[in-house]
Amino acid sequence: MKPVILTIPIVFLIVLHELFENWLPGHYTFDTNVLQSLVDQTLAANHNNNATEIMIDLSSRLKQVYPTLINDLNFDEWVYNNAGGAMGTMFILHASVTEYLIFFGTSTGTEGHTGVHWANDYFYILTGEERASLPNAQEPEIYKPGNCHHLKKGEAKQYSMPPESFALELAQGWIPAMLPFGFIKTLTSTLDFKTFYLTCYYTGRDMIRHLKNGKL
Ligand SMILES: *[C@@H]1O[C@H](CO)[C@@H](O)[C@H](O)[C@H]1NC(C)=O
Repeated sequence: MKPVILTIPIVFLIVLHELFENWLPGHYTFDTNVLQSLVDQTLAANHNNNATEIMIDLSSRLKQVYPTLINDLNFDEWVYNNAGGAMGTMFILHASVTEYLIFFGTSTGTEGHTGVHWANDYFYILTGEERASLPNAQEPEIYKPGNCHHLKKGEAKQYSMPPESFALELAQGWIPAMLPFGFIKTLTSTLDFKTFYLTCYYTGRDMIRHLKNGKL
């Protein structure tokens, strides 16, 4: 390959990196401090550790603060997510080009690789717990309800969640760049095309709706 051709992807990556650092943050609408305080308020209201009730309460608090950005929680629109060897289930509260906000969890428990993302990821535990570790760790990081696990852009960890663990997850960055990680397992392993179709449909529907409203 001629060296000049190599410069094209390199320039492309540098441009995406510059945009990530200097331009994307101006398009973020969710505030991690606001989310933390909504999670705290929800957990303080006594829901007896019931994940269903916690998510119903939290989604309505989110809706009050971000009325045009949040989908109404609908338990018929949960989909499986298979990625990095882990399997969970999720509900898309918001998906746009620069951000997604989902409920993610598992009633049976799971373990796997977080993926390496061109985004910052904030994982607010609602019930159960999450354990995570970098490759040099001998003891895991342990996150309990109310804790937030910040997985920084480009960082990868092993993680596990015991049964009945649910979380609110915010990702901010190049969301389309995260989608291959989220989808590849479905195409190469589970062949669960219904899940694939529904995930594409819910994500695409949201992205287009927000783009039309001028939200990147
Ligand atoms: C949790 O709350 C939901 C909705 O109110 C209810 O249907 C379910 O039975 C509750 N679970 C437990 C273990 O109490």
